[in-house]
Amino acid sequence: MTITVSPITPNFAAEIGDVDLSKPLEAADFADIQNAFWKYSVLVFPEQQLTLQQHLDFSQLFGPAETERTLDPKSTPSRFTGAFADISNLAADGTIWGENSRQRMYKAGNRLWHTDSSFKYLPALCSLLYGRTVAAVGGHTEFADQRAAYDALPDATKKKLDGLIAEHCIAFSRRRSGFAEFTEEEQRRLPPVPQMLVRTIPQNQRKSLYVASHAGNIFGMSEAEGRALIDELLAHVTQRQFVYTHRWRPNELVMWDNRCTMHRGTEYDDLRWVRDMRRVTISDVANSCEQEGVPLPAEAVAKRAAQRVA
Ligand code: OGA
Ligand code: MN
Repeated sequence: MTITVSPITPNFAAEIGDVDLSKPLEAADFADIQNAFWKYSVLVFPEQQLTLQQHLDFSQLFGPAETERTLDPKSTPSRFTGAFADISNLAADGTIWGENSRQRMYKAGNRLWHTDSSFKYLPALCSLLYGRTVAAVGGHTEFADQRAAYDALPDATKKKLDGLIAEHCIAFSRRRSGFAEFTEEEQRRLPPVPQMLVRTIPQNQRKSLYVASHAGNIFGMSEAEGRALIDELLAHVTQRQFVYTHRWRPNELVMWDNRCTMHRGTEYDDLRWVRDMRRVTISDVANSCEQEGVPLPAEAVAKRAAQRVA
């Protein structure tokens, strides 16, 4: 059976129907899904019944899955291990988390606009989030189109951004969401990394902004100047005309391209409703500066060398 692609907006977000992701896909159907993904950046697959393994199998058609978690599983256990990030409000034993749980404090950061794993030297290509049980009120996921936002910039701004490199770190965004207590081991694993501020998506040559709340400063600018530019770009990208708000239905899989979108979770009563979500994150092929062929600033090279020695 041929899949159906129903655009949600003309160039951003589409719903994919007539496909059962629990089964191996025919090559033509997978090619249609890939093409839709490069075009729309966010795909919604309603009514899927997926085991963890089936979720992972479909995800890995796009590349290798990340397995390293940000929070140390020794001090902060989660329901899942390996390739699965637990995006639910459930503790390791499956009950709703406590008001002061570390997972809860950490995940509050998902309410800031971000793109997954831009704080890793090798960032994420895409994320595949499967929602089994959804909150009755709130708990939506919003997506912002960083390609359309780039296209809409004045030429003078495009010129100014050309070749700029930002520094991303999970500690920047978590400090802003009120979570400041990474363990020493977690900090050591997650030092600041360089990423292009503008990147080109190889599959269609479209240019995209690549900002996120994980971005803290810009190489070659003072801290205040860099911060101001990042905040201005975050405000630009997240204007309503670039945003799609996804209201979840149970058993839905949503995938997004982390190279050219941002997303955030909206509020819900997480001490009342169960919101059972799990995510597989697929690694990109290289750091964004490497992909653009832009050499790392000397300062970033020195930092990386020091990290390797430490
Ligand atoms: C994520 C994420 C937001 C949400 O899964 O990466 O940021 O709505 N989710 O849960
Ligand atoms: Mn996320």
